[in-house]
Amino acid sequence: MLMKKLPEWYYDELIQVGTDYESEDEVLNYDRKMGSIRNIAGEAETMCKLIDIQPENEILEIGCGTGEFSIELSKYCKKVTALDISQKMLDFAEKKAKFRQRENIKFINAGFLTFDSGETKYDAVVTQLVLHHLPDFWKLIALKNINSMLKEGGKFFLKDVVFSSEIQDFDEYFSQLFQNMPTEADDKVVEAMKLHIKEEYSTFDWTMKGLIEQAGFKIEEYVHKKGFMATYLCIKQ
Ligand SMILES: C[S@@+](CC[C@H](N)C(=O)[O-])C[C@H]1O[C@@H](n2cnc3c(N)ncnc32)[C@H](O)[C@@H]1O
Repeated sequence: MLMKKLPEWYYDELIQVGTDYESEDEVLNYDRKMGSIRNIAGEAETMCKLIDIQPENEILEIGCGTGEFSIELSKYCKKVTALDISQKMLDFAEKKAKFRQRENIKFINAGFLTFDSGETKYDAVVTQLVLHHLPDFWKLIALKNINSMLKEGGKFFLKDVVFSSEIQDFDEYFSQLFQNMPTEADDKVVEAMKLHIKEEYSTFDWTMKGLIEQAGFKIEEYVHKKGFMATYLCIKQ
């Protein structure tokens, strides 16, 4: 049983909000865009060093998208379980993993709220650019689920768009952000960011800190870049 049966009043995380990652075009566009603006192999290496991943470790990635990070991660550990609510993303990721001969990744169609890990406890859980798909109440439920799926002392790495409480004027801040973006990205990145702000659920840094701690984690390291990109290294208490 890999997907939980949830009560009727539960948030339906399988419905895409903002960018539609169930669209075939978006899957290809996302993979191309991320490949051009990120060094994902480098990101995986840095994260594995930071959380001290060992070859015998089992890692859960939530919201694996086109699978690039899971593939890189699988080179450092025994097994990666990679979840996504978009079957289109998973199909693309699975094909890519097969082509690259990575056999220690299991792709599963489920998310923060619906994944049933059974008796399995992970050494680490990682999620990047995904938690903002849930409203704040459900972020806490998701973070508690993550905490319960970790071994004692297990590590949780979270990267997401989280807005800094130091920003005083958001109109000014966003118009500057969009003006500066085309120098480092193309128009599609700017459009995606606009849709993100308008329709997705990125929250404030002080809210996110509270949610993480409420869910039973200690924040060991925290980095915030450009007022919107936050990374948290957390330990299960
Ligand atoms: C912006 S992409 C990030 C993909 C990848 N983690 C990365 O860093 O490039 C967001 C992904 O999260 C997935 N997603 C959205 N809501 C989710 C949820 N509740 N649980 C798991 N995955 C979710 C989407 O289908 C999409 O593939």
